[in-house]
Amino acid sequence: MPADLLAHARAAKGFMPEDEGLLLHRVARERLPHGPVLEIGTYCGKSAIYLGAAAREVGGTVLTVDHHRGSEENQAGWEHHDTSLVVDDTGLMDSLPTFRATIAAAGLEEQVVAVVGRSTTVSGLWRTPVSMVFIDGGHAEVHARNDYTGWAPWLVTGGLLVIHDVFPDPADGGRPPYLVFLQALASGDFEEVEALGSVRVLRRVRGTAGDPVPWDPSLTAP
Ligand SMILES: C[S@@+](CC[C@H](N)C(=O)[O-])C[C@H]1O[C@@H](n2cnc3c(N)ncnc32)[C@H](O)[C@@H]1O
Repeated sequence: MPADLLAHARAAKGFMPEDEGLLLHRVARERLPHGPVLEIGTYCGKSAIYLGAAAREVGGTVLTVDHHRGSEENQAGWEHHDTSLVVDDTGLMDSLPTFRATIAAAGLEEQVVAVVGRSTTVSGLWRTPVSMVFIDGGHAEVHARNDYTGWAPWLVTGGLLVIHDVFPDPADGGRPPYLVFLQALASGDFEEVEALGSVRVLRRVRGTAGDPVPWDPSLTAP
């Protein structure tokens, strides 16, 4: 990772530990020559800098989807609420201005494209094959499931599905990203290739862009 962009990533507001960010950067470098990389869950652009740095080095485009109104845990009274992201006259959260300033300061506006909207709205209209999907959006089960079933189908064969906040031990964190990980493995469409911290990297070994991915309602996260 180029030193100038690593400094921007370190300074950016967000939730991506550096070792996990460097893993994102490395796998994005591998995949970008094969098509765009798509992130769900932009927030203020910290993880997008790791991905965008890869695009600056090898070419290609990173698309990052977020409604910028925050997840449950970002709302007032919750663990990850940040009052500096609340818009005074509406009281709503808006991470888009901070994201824009962060990506502009890093010099990555050509590489990182913001898609502003609800994940299901955008994925329902999406038709473009992607080489990598990074799921780091809403962590409630309905959102994690929708992000997986809405975006993983657009992976090309050999594309990478990267999931953040996967915690096999319930004492470490919520179940939905872990459930997505289990569903992907159980489907037989994906094989695990790497794990670091709470990041899991899986490769699509069956199906190609446009083929749905199954969801087994009887499979739950222990
Ligand atoms: C954990 S944060 C992303 C952190 C970011 N990847 C980083 O490393 O800094 C999750 C983001 O997902 C967004 N989000 C939650 N549910 C969403 C949905 N249904 N559609 C679009 N964005 C959503 C929230 O607005 C929030 O910014």
